[in-house]
Amino acid sequence: MNATEITYRPISLKLKVMHVVRLTVAAIARLFFRLYYGNEGEKVPPITDDILKEPAIEVAKKIRNKEITSVEVLEACIRRIKNVNSILNCFVEDRFELAMKEAREADELIRSGTKTSEQLASEKPFLGVPFTTKDCISVKGLHQTAGVVLRKDFIAEEDAKAISLVKEKGAIIIGLTNVPELCMWWETHNHIFGRTNNPYNTTRIVGGSSGGEACLQAVGGSCFGIGSDIGGSIRMPAYFNGIFGHKPSKFVVSNHGQYPSPESELHDSFLSIGPMTRFAVDLKPILKILSGENASKLNLDEPVDIQKIKFFYQISNDAPTVDAVDVDIITAMKTVVEYLKVQHQITAEEKKIKQLQKSIAIWLSTMKSEKLFGEFIMTKDTVALILLETVKNLFGLSGNTFIGLVTSLIDHGGVSVGDERYHHYLKSRENLEKTFTDMLGDNGVFLYPTHPTPAPYHNEPIVKPFNFSYTAIINSLGLPATTIPLGLSKEGLPIGLQVVANHNQDRLCLAVAEELEKAFGGWIEPQKA
Ligand SMILES: *[C@@H]1O[C@H](CO)[C@@H](O)[C@H](O)[C@H]1NC(C)=O
Ligand SMILES: *[C@@H]1O[C@H](CO)[C@@H](O)[C@H](O)[C@H]1NC(C)=O
Ligand SMILES: *[C@@H]1O[C@H](CO)[C@@H](O)[C@H](O)[C@H]1NC(C)=O
Repeated sequence: MNATEITYRPISLKLKVMHVVRLTVAAIARLFFRLYYGNEGEKVPPITDDILKEPAIEVAKKIRNKEITSVEVLEACIRRIKNVNSILNCFVEDRFELAMKEAREADELIRSGTKTSEQLASEKPFLGVPFTTKDCISVKGLHQTAGVVLRKDFIAEEDAKAISLVKEKGAIIIGLTNVPELCMWWETHNHIFGRTNNPYNTTRIVGGSSGGEACLQAVGGSCFGIGSDIGGSIRMPAYFNGIFGHKPSKFVVSNHGQYPSPESELHDSFLSIGPMTRFAVDLKPILKILSGENASKLNLDEPVDIQKIKFFYQISNDAPTVDAVDVDIITAMKTVVEYLKVQHQITAEEKKIKQLQKSIAIWLSTMKSEKLFGEFIMTKDTVALILLETVKNLFGLSGNTFIGLVTSLIDHGGVSVGDERYHHYLKSRENLEKTFTDMLGDNGVFLYPTHPTPAPYHNEPIVKPFNFSYTAIINSLGLPATTIPLGLSKEGLPIGLQVVANHNQDRLCLAVAEELEKAFGGWIEPQKA
């Protein structure tokens, strides 16, 4: 079939019925979760060290100018992590002692005066600044379990490329944060470290897979974080935890050292390592470091004039398998559109890109690989073993999470690499990519929900498996996208949107993030929420 001829039929009766059934199940589930969790929930204590409420670039400046020492900043991070981790369970492994030694060395280099503050700013812009990453990006000497019990003793022998680049610029890695089993689900829970809680309401999920990282950033546990994103793993947790997260353009930041590693060039184009921060201004300098020799592709230093950007937006993908976008999020998006008009005389153009209805089918099909999901999390991947582990799981005896097993089972069915439907979705992906690149050009951005709802209750994602379609489709297209916090929902949970640009136009996303942070206040400390 000629790709451009793919047409979109009206939604069939069968799909409509399925939609109603699904909505009913979701509504009953929500009622159940609400009753189950009731008024439970523990409050996170406030941040007591003000240095943790400043952008990483400001912290770096203060360290260079001897207004504060790296050791003091590190001590503040350690205090904070110890203060919140029993409530949130976001931080899973530390290297505090080694980090302390590195912090003393950084302070010593500054005190020695062998380099001027300007030299340090250009050679080691993050000298002495503590950061963290998720437990599926390798850090030499620390575990790299990816939440898989079979890997619980695996120690990384070298730093991931991205981590080594950040360290070269003087930043100090202080530990690892929690992820879902094999980083493949949107609730952060595994049978090695357990489950991570949302700091705005501990009855809610943090998202995944960079869920521990987003949570730790939201509470100010380190100065910035490094996450990775193959279906929304940076943006969705960043959104649920009210911080900024950027998924870079494809093929800019090396995926070396991330587990599981992409098995094909296509999957490599979906996956990106990127920054997670409380402050929009930190995204650009970190992205610049992460992209190493590829930074020149992004022209990050070229000034962006907001008034010259063409804005497009779409409020929903109208897919029958995914719920309607929450009213708080619709309101926030409309407020942004109104703000652009009043403040900058920009008229954002509303789009109804029909092909986005197929988001989840496109992503799931093109994510298929020769190797089955179960092969990564079990000694052997057979349907019989999956069923056995599922039974064991019900009695709390399996190393695998329930959702990991369901995913393994589902992976035995559906599209297979190379079959007709696989090729059909590859073509759909290409067509959609063309629709986006034509629309965005070198000066356009697309505003789109990061997720249709604020953070759901723990376990609730099981009844809304496809709500991550808003982020996942952007991975399939290899486009850069930043999630931007826009305040809190009526229930006190973070909401926001993502801004998408054309390939290598990351700087437009980052400029919009800085602009909307000014207008809408950006990150709000959980205690103040
Ligand atoms: C957290 O959510 C629960 C259940 O929805 C609610 O009863 C509680 O008031 C919320 N806690 C906070 C701190 O908002
Ligand atoms: C630059 O891009 C190339 C091509 O995608 C990639 O192989 C390389 O690892 C990237 N370099 C860095 C520092 O990420
Ligand atoms: C997505 O979120 C909506 C709104 O809460 C929810 O009702 C629905 O169950 C979710 N849809 C899916 C497919 O998960």
